[in-house]
Amino acid sequence: MAKKNESAFDRLLKKLTKATPIEEESSVKLDHDFDGIQELNNPLPPWWTAGFIITIILSVFYIFYYMVQGKDSQYVEYQREVARAKAQVDAYKKAHHIVDANTVTVLTDKKSLEEGKEIYLKNCAACHVADGGGLVGPNLTDDYWIYGCDIKSIFNVITNGTSKGMPPWKALGADKIQKVASYVLSLHGTKPAKPKAPQGKPCKRG
Ligand code: HEC
Repeated sequence: MAKKNESAFDRLLKKLTKATPIEEESSVKLDHDFDGIQELNNPLPPWWTAGFIITIILSVFYIFYYMVQGKDSQYVEYQREVARAKAQVDAYKKAHHIVDANTVTVLTDKKSLEEGKEIYLKNCAACHVADGGGLVGPNLTDDYWIYGCDIKSIFNVITNGTSKGMPPWKALGADKIQKVASYVLSLHGTKPAKPKAPQGKPCKRG
């Protein structure tokens, strides 16, 4: 029974919930009682039932879309997005000459090698000796390498260091590491005053 001066909102709420008004509760009360806790046999609220039916109807479209038409799942979409983002990052790095272990190349221009030499004398000579002959660290001029003689391996070793005494130089930044790595490679074949005995395996740079 619609009461007078009932607002439109109250009427809507009533329609959506179909809850029994508090004065009529005794009509829906179930006759069990646990320590004073009682249960009302209210109908399912229509808003909830409608939502339930809508999800069932939507599921038909989902089944059709993903299982019959075989469209990409969220997982495949996610992987595609990640791959696209990665490609964009790579393109950005390339365009802005930002190097990392995957894109690093050997620099051969004089200016870069001179900068590389400066970095080397300042940070590396204590252990590898100014002429690269090796002392605490291995000889960097010979054909023997522990971690590989390609620019990527050397870039990696310098960046991350090793567990056997080579400190990480990440703080130098990729740019400087590329220069000092290129300088290290330029030492190959030079004749240091006191070459340290070979360590590692023979390695030919392609
Ligand atoms: C505290 C001493 C020390 C300093 C400083 C140091 N290194 Fe090393 N370096 C080592 C040691 C020790 C090793 C051998 C590590 C191993 O066997 O795991 C090594 C290994 C290396 C290797 C790998 C050699 C191979 O045979 O694979 C490279 C390349 C290298 N260092 C370059 C550098 C550069 C460039 C710098 C300066 C930015 C530098 N190191 C500074 C001690 C040092």
